[in-house]
Amino acid sequence: MQKTLKSHGTWIGKWTFVLAATGSAVGLGNIWGFPYKAGTEGGGAFVLIYLLCIVLIGLPIMLSEILIGRRSGNSPINSMKKSAIDSDVSSAWQGVGWIGISAGILILSFYSVIAGICLKYIFVSASSNDLDTAGQFLSIVNSPKELMLWHTIFMGLTMFIVSAGVKKGIGRMVKILMPMLGLLLIFMVVYGIINGAFKEALSFLFKPDFTKITSDTFLVAMGQAFFSLSLGMGSIMAYGAYMSKDQNIASTSVSVGALDTLVAIMAGLAVFPIIFAIQGLEASGGPGLVFISLQTAFNTMDFGNIIGPIFFILLSVAALSSSISILEPGVAYLAEEGYLSRTKSAIIISITCWLIGIGTAFGFDQDGNNFFQANVELISVNIMQPLGGMLIAIFIGWFMKESLIKDELGDINQAIYQIWRIFIKFVAPIGVGIVLISQLF
Ligand code: PHE
Repeated sequence: MQKTLKSHGTWIGKWTFVLAATGSAVGLGNIWGFPYKAGTEGGGAFVLIYLLCIVLIGLPIMLSEILIGRRSGNSPINSMKKSAIDSDVSSAWQGVGWIGISAGILILSFYSVIAGICLKYIFVSASSNDLDTAGQFLSIVNSPKELMLWHTIFMGLTMFIVSAGVKKGIGRMVKILMPMLGLLLIFMVVYGIINGAFKEALSFLFKPDFTKITSDTFLVAMGQAFFSLSLGMGSIMAYGAYMSKDQNIASTSVSVGALDTLVAIMAGLAVFPIIFAIQGLEASGGPGLVFISLQTAFNTMDFGNIIGPIFFILLSVAALSSSISILEPGVAYLAEEGYLSRTKSAIIISITCWLIGIGTAFGFDQDGNNFFQANVELISVNIMQPLGGMLIAIFIGWFMKESLIKDELGDINQAIYQIWRIFIKFVAPIGVGIVLISQLF
């Protein structure tokens, strides 16, 4: 019944897991999502809560997901099932994998549309010097035909890579492209320091104004933390399944989390100096914020028509290295059950995502807001991902046999182990639970 270990293969090379997991984590969530959410949620206080969520909830869950995945070597559904059976508890824990795969399909449906806008901006920034960048963004998102074209291309690329198997293609790609994205981001931050309102941006991002906190802030910050670290929906668990046994799970989790956070903060420091320097642009501008502010910078800087496209190419690649990780858990499941080939599995799930994505492509209003997308995101990112993460924490904290956990962790520092146990047993489930329950009432 259970498929053999490692039915999908193992990452080649010591660093490939870190790179692939970082590729999964670093994406639109960091560069598109983080700045605009910090903007709409009032800045510093949001950032602080976000950072707390990363450290107190995100990292402990990331460690858990990698552990469960690597132990079993299967898709999240079967990895959960196997760990549950080996711990003599109900195999219904595989439901966590099902929640995850459903969340992934919803997430990918809008992720692909936004990534499609990045693809479109490669060409926009190569050729346009339109100073009304806000108007330009609105005219693009109000053209469903355009959005559908790029959505289709992006979804097709994702499907293609996943059906080919993730290891060789993406493993190699991220090694070159992620450092390049990092360099360009540094360049954008330096540009902001020189030409933008950098001080204002710093105090907006790092001076918490607690009067701006609502119960919504917690929900959005927590969802963003799960989204950005790719947690609670199986991506990291699936990637963990391809990780070799001799790697250290704890230090790997910290590296991936730190890199992800660094990129998000840098994106904020690239975007807000420009927003604050330009009359008429608001920090609370919403989903268009990044496209508008960065394109404004590209329009005014020397060689903007070259640097702009390079930036959007890299952003698209970052999105692609994330989108394949969103698709992977479902495809791995269908393929390992043996009913369908990997390619057919990838096609079926991709088409489902593509169809749901039509709602997002047609959903933008005159102001650039998108009711459909916002609700799909609310359900998948703000509710399903934290819920999945909470269940994983409860499972590993309370139900999984500790001997199995210790086997998998090898000789981990005892102090770190004990801290992780406390976080995963109490802090993470209670924290997520309070935020989710407070939303219901
Ligand atoms: N972490 C990715 C980003 O920040 C998105 C993602 C979400 C990837 C969920 C995998 C799973 O863009």
